[in-house]
Amino acid sequence: MSYDAHFRVWRGDAAGGELADYTVAVHDGEVVLDVIHRLQATEATDLAVRWNCKAGKCGSCSAEINGRPRLMCMTRMSSLPSGETVTVTPMRAFPVVRDLVTDVSFNYAKAREVPAFVPPPGLAPGEYRMKQEDVGRSQEFRKCIECFLCQDTCHVVRDHEENKAAFAGPRFLMRVAELDMHPLDAAAETGLDRKRAAQEEHGLGYCNITKCCTEVCPEHIKITDNALIPLKERAVDRKYDPLVWLGNKIRRRGA
Ligand code: SF4
Ligand code: SF4
Ligand code: FES
Repeated sequence: MSYDAHFRVWRGDAAGGELADYTVAVHDGEVVLDVIHRLQATEATDLAVRWNCKAGKCGSCSAEINGRPRLMCMTRMSSLPSGETVTVTPMRAFPVVRDLVTDVSFNYAKAREVPAFVPPPGLAPGEYRMKQEDVGRSQEFRKCIECFLCQDTCHVVRDHEENKAAFAGPRFLMRVAELDMHPLDAAAETGLDRKRAAQEEHGLGYCNITKCCTEVCPEHIKITDNALIPLKERAVDRKYDPLVWLGNKIRRRGA
């Protein structure tokens, strides 16, 4: 069965743009990306859209559908209110390149600021042993497809460009949490304090655990409950640890 749907798609570039109206055919079982492709093939042949896998795995087709950050390839037309206009806009937290394509380089810059896993000294890959519960925690975080929908939805940067320098965003705070909770990470032995870095370099204090990032994650990663809240607890424990307090005091005196 087919029907005609009314779409409003943002068209423009860094200099500005506006919503354009289209009436486009939709067939049973289609997702929003199918309809965007039909538009490209018919009345909007120069419409810019980024996509790759059409299977919810490459993280490329992120956009906002009726104002909600979502993957276009995983949003079934049948899940949207029938008979109502479907509005598709680019992710709001990042600069527009053209139409639905945004410049997500902010995220790559933030990724580079998180120091990598530090292998445990004296153990070769293959000799690592971990409890299943620790393996499970890393596996959950590593389901991330880097769609950056969580980064787009987080209110700390969504309407506050000025916060971007100081805040890594949920995806990369989750990375810090994963490494800080990793039982084999030897960062501390090299003098790297991931908890201090989370607070002072990655802006953990900006997060007020609204859970909006968790709600939009297409991989259903419990970003807030399993990464951000535990990281906050660990950072607070470190701050009030009497040994850390004493160490800081001695360091200050010696300075
Ligand atoms: S829980 Fe924290 S990181 Fe996630 S959207 Fe809310 S403020 Fe942002
Ligand atoms: S944590 Fe989820 S929402 Fe955020 S980038 Fe990864 S897959 Fe996307
Ligand atoms: S096209 Fe790959 S996630 Fe949508």
